[in-house]
Amino acid sequence: MHQIKKPIISTMKMDIKKKYKRMIVGTTENMIPFYVLNGFTKYHHTVKNFFVDNYDEEVWDGLKIMINNEHDFYNEIKNWDFSYINYIKENFTRWDMYEILRNNSNSESRVLDLGTGGGEKVLKYFPEVKEIIATDFSEEMIKTANENLKNSDKNNITFRQMDNLNMNTPDNYFDIVVARHTCIDAEQIYKALKTNGLLILRGVDKLDCWELKRLFGKGQAYKDSKPISLIDYENILDAGFKDVELVPIHIREYYKTKNDLLALLLKTPILADFSETQDNKNLEKEEIDLNKLDEYIKRNSSEKGILLIRRYYGITARK
Ligand SMILES: C[S@@+](CC[C@H](N)C(=O)[O-])C[C@H]1O[C@@H](n2cnc3c(N)ncnc32)[C@H](O)[C@@H]1O
Repeated sequence: MHQIKKPIISTMKMDIKKKYKRMIVGTTENMIPFYVLNGFTKYHHTVKNFFVDNYDEEVWDGLKIMINNEHDFYNEIKNWDFSYINYIKENFTRWDMYEILRNNSNSESRVLDLGTGGGEKVLKYFPEVKEIIATDFSEEMIKTANENLKNSDKNNITFRQMDNLNMNTPDNYFDIVVARHTCIDAEQIYKALKTNGLLILRGVDKLDCWELKRLFGKGQAYKDSKPISLIDYENILDAGFKDVELVPIHIREYYKTKNDLLALLLKTPILADFSETQDNKNLEKEEIDLNKLDEYIKRNSSEKGILLIRRYYGITARK
């Protein structure tokens, strides 16, 4: 199967190259990268395992991240799985949210995971506790999460749709609330937690991939005047939490090839003008300028790969 797939892919590629000056490349459900002539849902060609099979080949004339609003962006992506991208990580900060979660939970704990995506992290890294409720505002993410759940041996996890900014969980119910790379409302989380309950938050900070964003003159939180880490930190303090710790997390990632880096940029909003502090409703379709990307790659290549400096932050807080 694998052997006959490649020639077919090459033929399709030649055809597409001849036909279209501009095209869009992205990933769809089940990690299927695709070409699109126009519109996110009208797939002209779907090429399974494109990124996996074609790492050495340049086939793009134009690259776009499609954004109408944040909800639709995540709904189109449908999962938060990056296992097909080839990169290594060097962690300079010892702050591991799953270790904190393990150290603060036991078999009787009730845990809420906000903005869970396709449940990838909950299913893989969360400890065995009494109950895990994992939520996301994207119905497609929850669909993926439930499929992933079916293929797991877990029976203590429930996935369901919920907006983090309009939570409908019971009050004083959870021992721990986890939020990884998603937006939060500190006051609503405070209500959902039991007394002495723990909030464990990890976020993507303003200076994440900063050199790349500066080169492109845009990107996630690029125009925010106040870093989201500080906004979260202050909101969490103001909501009444105690023992609030904010830890900057420094990570260096090395992407094996340009296509690995592109795969990341197409899937994530790194180069999109997403903001936690502004209205994301009418964002335009974002184009990735390949000349700028080449310039970045020239400046950041080494034998380890193409360097991307990541800036996250971790917050822990007690009710
Ligand atoms: C960057 S992904 C992170 C997924 C997962 N937490 C992880 O770390 O792998 C962000 C997720 O948050 C969800 N999300 C964004 N805004 C949300 C909101 N207001 N309410 C609920 N989910 C939201 C998205 O649909 C997406 O699945």
